[in-house]
Amino acid sequence: MTQSYPATRLRRSRATAWSRAMHRENTLTPDNLIWPLFVTEGDGVEEPIASLPGVSRWSLDGIAARAREAVDLGIPCLALFPNTQAERRSDDGAEALNPDNLMCRAIRAIRDSCGDQIGILTDVALDPYTVHGQDGLMDNDGYVMNDATVEVLVKQSLNQALAGADIIAPSDMMDGRIGAIRDALEAEGHHNVQIMSYAAKYASAFYGPFRDAVGSRGLLKGDKKNYQMDPANVEEALREVALDLSEGADSVMVKPGLPYLDIITRVKQRFEVPVFAYQVSGEYAMIEAAAAAGAGDREALVMETLMAFKRAGCSGILTYHAPLAARLLHG
Ligand code: PBG
Repeated sequence: MTQSYPATRLRRSRATAWSRAMHRENTLTPDNLIWPLFVTEGDGVEEPIASLPGVSRWSLDGIAARAREAVDLGIPCLALFPNTQAERRSDDGAEALNPDNLMCRAIRAIRDSCGDQIGILTDVALDPYTVHGQDGLMDNDGYVMNDATVEVLVKQSLNQALAGADIIAPSDMMDGRIGAIRDALEAEGHHNVQIMSYAAKYASAFYGPFRDAVGSRGLLKGDKKNYQMDPANVEEALREVALDLSEGADSVMVKPGLPYLDIITRVKQRFEVPVFAYQVSGEYAMIEAAAAAGAGDREALVMETLMAFKRAGCSGILTYHAPLAARLLHG
């Protein structure tokens, strides 16, 4: 009996660094990163967020500085979230429509310091502005009303577009909001303002630190399960994406990220459109906690997860690790 050896040895291509590089199927570059930033009132203010170690809220001067840092790092886009002062929150979230709210001032501060060198993506939803922490308007039974909320989201979007937002990103999961926002943007002449819809956004346990960051965790009554999606569902995600695209979304987002890589791949294969993932606050905190506990190398964990999004089919990733990742990519 002679021993038979395999003619195909996949390990051949893995034997050296140059060969591994040559056979690499996916790449990650700073172009793939969107950096979420939290904005707060004041001047010279940096407020660390305990549940999001290494991430802070910044006042406008700090936001402008982060924007310049992002330009230097080759990060193409920032995502903005305001921590609205308690006295400016209300039942109906009217502060979202104020042309001088924190969000609009942050947009202008970034534009003043960086011009068109960086994209500005703005979150559309009412949770940073309401006293109940829900993303929309509630009826007397505490149910978030769909159509009445969409009317406000349209106004919120126009307010952000007028302030200079490049990409409107509705994260509220109301039905029909993408079409309504697109119509309004067209009617007001904002033809080139993009919409990236949070198309498949799940009712997730991974949003906790974000709610600390925008100050809505303590306020939130109940949960968001009657508008955000059930983590058990796939078909419904595909229907959400199909609707948002038919209503005029330029790109779609899947959120959270890592636990939903299958959704990213299904969406990419079915629709062949730009897909983005939001590696959310709880995922960031999980990686940081694992690294702090000695369970893995922080930088390696970060880069492996980001590459996983590219492999799954993403054009880009919203991640709080964006500046770290960009620095590592620059070597
Ligand atoms: C709310 C919104 C949330 C996030 C982005 N926009 C939280 C929520 O739906 O309660 C979460 C992002 C993160 O966890 O990093 N409109």
